[in-house]
Amino acid sequence: MKLIKAKDYDSMSRKAANIIAAQLILKPDSVLGLATGSSPVGIYRQLIEWYRDGDIDFAACSTVNLDEYAGLTADNKQSYAWFMQTNLFDHVNITSKNINIPNGANPDADGECARYNQVIGDVGGVDLQLLGIGHNGHIGFNEPGDAFEKDTHCVALAQSTIDANARFFGPGETVPTHAYTMGIRSIMSARKILLIATGEAKADILYKAMCGSITPAVPASVLQLHSDVTVVADQAALAKFEAAGVKVSSH
Ligand code: F6R
Repeated sequence: MKLIKAKDYDSMSRKAANIIAAQLILKPDSVLGLATGSSPVGIYRQLIEWYRDGDIDFAACSTVNLDEYAGLTADNKQSYAWFMQTNLFDHVNITSKNINIPNGANPDADGECARYNQVIGDVGGVDLQLLGIGHNGHIGFNEPGDAFEKDTHCVALAQSTIDANARFFGPGETVPTHAYTMGIRSIMSARKILLIATGEAKADILYKAMCGSITPAVPASVLQLHSDVTVVADQAALAKFEAAGVKVSSH
């Protein structure tokens, strides 16, 4: 695992965006695994800027998003499909048929998860998977549990995740309780993984996930078993690593 320290959120976003840009430059038809949430917004902003400057091109790439809320249609402003359109896809030259996100509007959970597993297989697997980390160690929406979840499945969100997500929903809007998510096996099948973390609220869980026991109780800890993981985090999120004397590179 490679740990890269950034001084703040903007610097973390630029460093992580550089890794994604390099992937696209070296392999224009890459399959990018993408995430939503607040952590990757700065990365997407940076990628859009480099696209406008003519430095990167999305024409040949495909994307596979990690997850989507069950029960939300793609035109619902709280859906992850909407998030991806407004934060990235509307601003770059990606081909819409190359965009893949679980269909939250499909009430047939088993059917939707099977379809999504097929999609991931059909695109040839993920070249570079971007991940954020939840306060409880979740990746995608793989919540702490008794076993590592496998492929795409429907999950009941932990109360702490529902509470954390509530900040994106207005008064009177129902915060979804279920989601379709790529499983741990789907994530671990990616050829490369890029995990980002920002802020002191992530310091404990990031350290536990990367340096603690590998256990389904901390889903991100499974990443210790992947052969090509890069963690880009800001100083605040890396506080525990430095305190424990773990070597962290600045580039
Ligand atoms: C989002 C996702 C989640 C988030 C995690 C961190 O697609 O899969 O695992 O990455 O909840 O969210 P933020 O970045 O908002 O702290």
